[in-house]
Amino acid sequence: MRIGVLGAGNMADALAAQWARKGHDIRIGARTPAKAAALAERIGEGATGGTLREAAEFGDVVLLAVWYEGVQDVLRQAGPLDGRVLIDCTNPMEPPFETLKTADGPSAARRAADASGARVVKAFNMCHESVWRMTPPAFGGRPLGVPLCGDDAEALAAVRELVADLGCVPMDGGGLERAGLLEAATAFMVGLWVAGEDPSAMLPPPEYAGGDPRRTSG
Ligand SMILES: NC(=O)c1ccc[n+]([C@@H]2O[C@H](COP(=O)([O-])OP(=O)(O)OC[C@H]3O[C@@H](n4cnc5c(N)ncnc54)[C@H](OP(=O)(O)O)[C@@H]3O)[C@@H](O)[C@H]2O)c1
Repeated sequence: MRIGVLGAGNMADALAAQWARKGHDIRIGARTPAKAAALAERIGEGATGGTLREAAEFGDVVLLAVWYEGVQDVLRQAGPLDGRVLIDCTNPMEPPFETLKTADGPSAARRAADASGARVVKAFNMCHESVWRMTPPAFGGRPLGVPLCGDDAEALAAVRELVADLGCVPMDGGGLERAGLLEAATAFMVGLWVAGEDPSAMLPPPEYAGGDPRRTSG
């Protein structure tokens, strides 16, 4: 796949490096193109770096990996993304994790979709960048599940493939309308971590949760 990356920070680094190793073509874009070029050089594997617009034009799939405050500006600089697959990993949260920066309005993912015209899939926002650097992210022998929220079947299929490339298991998180729940759940979970709690301890094994747990493991 040709993957454009908007942003040259930790998430861009973690995910792009994994996908480059899997043979995908990567072009990083940043508001400071020199930072994008430096990241591309560090990643190697033929990755290149430049402007936000170059990365956006390059990608069949585009990863949005900048701070929430910068999203609208970055999407403006990236130019039209109509119909393109846009992965939104942004988290509109900040300490003390009591409210979201989106307040009572649309989710960050919905705002990115409205601003770009892209087929947005919310993904990869739940875990710390260090987890996305693991090869593979697996704990206790169990691969990490990655919930995806999106409305477009083709876009979801592409992102599922990229999740599998990391050695993770894609989880059906429903339509883009549910992305706000995923953003809120992440903020709540990070708030627990910061308070010194272990959020994974609050989830009972699947057999106690009702429903059919076989889908994720399968
Ligand atoms: N770090 C994590 O563990 C993690 C996990 C899941 C999701 N996320 C989300 O992923 C996104 C990226 O996080 P990160 O950890 O990669 O951050 P980061 O390492 O701080 O990098 C942030 C990137 O966003 C750009 N940026 C920041 N403010 C901007 C603005 N106002 N306008 C344009 N560009 C701006 C930065 O550009 P410059 O370099 O030019 O400043 C940089 O390329 C965030 O939304 C974050 O919530 C992070």
